Amino acid sequence: MGVTRVEPVGSVAGHIAVPGDKSVSHRAVLIGALSDGETHVRGFGRSADTESTIAAVGALGIQVDEVADDELVVHGVGLRGLQEPDAPIDAGNAGTLMRLLPGILAGQEGRFELTGDDSLRTRPMDRIAEPLKRMGARIETTKGLPPVVIEGTDALKGIEYVLPMASAQVKSAILLAGLNANGTTTVVEPAPTRDHTELMLATAGARIQRRPKSVSIDPAGSLHLAEVTVPGDFSAAAPFIVAATLLAGSELTIHDVGLNPRRTGLLDVLERMGARVIVFNRRKVGGELIGDLEVHSAELTAADVTEEEVPRLVDELPLFALAAGVARGVSHVSGAGELRLKESDRIETVTEGLRTLGVRIQPRDDGFEVRGVPSRPNGGQMPSKGDHRIAMLGAVAGVVSRDGVEVEGSDVVAISFPGFFDLLHSVSRR
Ligand code: S3P
Repeated sequence: MGVTRVEPVGSVAGHIAVPGDKSVSHRAVLIGALSDGETHVRGFGRSADTESTIAAVGALGIQVDEVADDELVVHGVGLRGLQEPDAPIDAGNAGTLMRLLPGILAGQEGRFELTGDDSLRTRPMDRIAEPLKRMGARIETTKGLPPVVIEGTDALKGIEYVLPMASAQVKSAILLAGLNANGTTTVVEPAPTRDHTELMLATAGARIQRRPKSVSIDPAGSLHLAEVTVPGDFSAAAPFIVAATLLAGSELTIHDVGLNPRRTGLLDVLERMGARVIVFNRRKVGGELIGDLEVHSAELTAADVTEEEVPRLVDELPLFALAAGVARGVSHVSGAGELRLKESDRIETVTEGLRTLGVRIQPRDDGFEVRGVPSRPNGGQMPSKGDHRIAMLGAVAGVVSRDGVEVEGSDVVAISFPGFFDLLHSVSRR
């Protein structure tokens, strides 16, 4: 288990780009596999998680040409052309793969078993098994967890499903199953979650109908994706946005970042806190909004994050906790019980980790409360607990701290962002 010591720095400055979006990269490979013909993926975000997706489709008979580190060609076999693998599929640590793939496999021919690493095998799967069963899928979990076994069927039927939790992964699994179902499939959301699946399926020619609180899909004859340009991952940009905001004298530009409004809740919350992030060069690439971000340091005041807003910054809430820790006033996050079901129980890992560093944060059942103190946190040790977002939180805490932070289990950043520590180092100024 690697330990990386992150020293305090004066500021961060320069121009950077971050890897391709993880959510979009998974979807490009999965939807490319279901398309007819070749899909050329540019800006692919290569990481342990997205490698798991390439390996998974490979086991299902899909040829993926790795043209360059960030460029792939996926040879699609059509909507029902996946093959039964000869061994269980290992999704590694990738929750998105584990949740989306069963939606696809439910309508294929054959028997499929999906498993994952120790962390993934603690993550709930009943949330997808339940709606898929209602569609007629034959899917069994292991007491609600992975491993999951799916016996494909050609008798799926469309349903209307009201999501009990705001989850893009669950929504996506249902929509993907809807591609091979009879009749229309509708998913109603309690709050807007990321819509990359809908956008990409629409680009591929699926009949998608979007309403403010729901989305419907009709069975598709065929999909043609052809090309995907993956935007920079907003969630990978977020540690740099927070570091530049908190370190006086910083001026950091992050180029070609995905700015899908269902992902950028952190920008809205930081703006309420007084942050100075200028968005320029806004444009659309393949249905997704992208742009450049120029981040200047700022003094922050406290903010509250409410349940409705949570899905728009769900993966950035650990970083919000750190920002709140140095803001003036008391901040709250509520309605974020889903954090307990991520790669770690992020309410526990964030509050325990940041407290050790001197941040005044209290856990709540469904979030946390932070009493900000506008000065550098002390520093100390931060265990990643096998969670990539917690390792990156520890690193940002390190650069903004007084004494530095030892990130224990730092290698786990490779789950989403293998070059993270080098990039952070490259923008750090004494
Ligand atoms: C993801 C959706 C989110 C997010 C995860 C990626 C996706 O999970 O936390 O990192 O790609 O659909 P939920 O939709 O389960 O909240």
